[in-house]
Amino acid sequence: MEKVENILFIGFMGCGKSTLARAFARESGRVFMDSDALIEMQFHLSVSEIFAKFGEEFFRKEEQKMADFLTHTKGISLATGGGFVNVKNLDKIGFCVYLRAGFDFLKERLSEKEKAKRPLFLDEEKARRLYHARLALYEEKADLILETENQNLESLIKELKKRIK
Ligand code: S3P
Repeated sequence: MEKVENILFIGFMGCGKSTLARAFARESGRVFMDSDALIEMQFHLSVSEIFAKFGEEFFRKEEQKMADFLTHTKGISLATGGGFVNVKNLDKIGFCVYLRAGFDFLKERLSEKEKAKRPLFLDEEKARRLYHARLALYEEKADLILETENQNLESLIKELKKRIK
């Protein structure tokens, strides 16, 4: 078992990063943070509104700023946005857990309402291409991969606790 300070969850939209990060924070005594929520709070706008008003490029720069800040933190359980994997210092933040699931599973898992909150999920075929384009990157950045299809929260937490403290 490895002792780590920060743990962060990466993976495609809908894989359950926020749910697991929040639950694991409570379970392990860490502080829960969510990169999307931090950016939304700062601008007092939703991710969709930020994309519409300022564009994706702007959002990505804010993600990088958030990453730079997060490298100075200790004891957090961090949910990231699906594209946060592209920040340049991901490995400096902490132990990276990739929540893996197939595209069709994720697509079914997200309700229409949840999809509508995600500008990059509005066009399903584009989202599918993005999924395939990112797969290798998620795997490369992961310190641990958890298969999440049809796994409940409890079993994922149990799996995590076997690996990290
Ligand atoms: C994005 C994923 C979203 C959010 C934004 C962009 C992406 O987060 O950061 O809409 O590029 O995959 P979730 O993965 O939490 O949906």
